[in-house]
Amino acid sequence: MALTGAGISVESGIPDFRSENGLWSRYEPMEYGHISSFRANPGKVWKMLLEMDALLGAARPNPAHVALAELEERALLKLVITQNVDSLHQKAGSRGVIEFHGHGRTLRCDRCGNRVSRESLRLSGEPPLCGCGNAMRPEFVFFGEQIPREAYAGAVDAARSCDVMLVIGTSAAVAPASHLPVLAKKAGAAIIVIDPRDIEIPSACIDLHIAQSAGTALPAMVGALDELDT
Ligand code: APR
Repeated sequence: MALTGAGISVESGIPDFRSENGLWSRYEPMEYGHISSFRANPGKVWKMLLEMDALLGAARPNPAHVALAELEERALLKLVITQNVDSLHQKAGSRGVIEFHGHGRTLRCDRCGNRVSRESLRLSGEPPLCGCGNAMRPEFVFFGEQIPREAYAGAVDAARSCDVMLVIGTSAAVAPASHLPVLAKKAGAAIIVIDPRDIEIPSACIDLHIAQSAGTALPAMVGALDELDT
């Protein structure tokens, strides 16, 4: 299985959160990313969300997403657990995907439960309002919220039963996603990290660290498999 984070989509033009030019270098995470901030001032948080929305709308899968779909096609990869909300794994052809932090395809009203597809809306500078008058929010998880129950249970089961976990483009700074490699290691899996930088899981958990970009390392992995086949 693979656990992916924002780094896998950097080569699709979506900056990550914690690198030098990441989203959280320009927006204070608790001020813009916490559910209580959204509820207190949806207009302010929507300014950041609109910026994200424009990037997500323009982004296309890169060779790293495509390589993971290819590994699934060859029955070498069963599942991608992603912290990303950009749907790029599915757009690349991956079918076994758990969206641990939700997704950006729909907006929801926390007051009346109404949902609308993102595509059906033309977003402007103002927060989109539900028919009930409340500000809609994206279907992804803010700080201070629970991971969707099914996603959490599926991810924990997969981590406990996988043989190998590829940990790709995540700083592993945010729990509970950061617990998944540790759970997998304790259950006997090998952990392979693909990230140009060191990440925050204990080094004793890491069997191999490939310090390259995902767009370089993953296609090379598929290429090496091709050579083995010939
Ligand atoms: N290839 C692989 N890794 C990369 C690349 C790349 N091209 N570019 C950057 N990275 C790495 C960075 O070195 C970093 O370790 O991706 C990681 C991105 O880490 P974060 O910015 O912390 O993103 P992520 O781990 O996904 O964040 C987790 O935090 O803010 C919340 O909800 C948000 O889902 C997000 C969660």
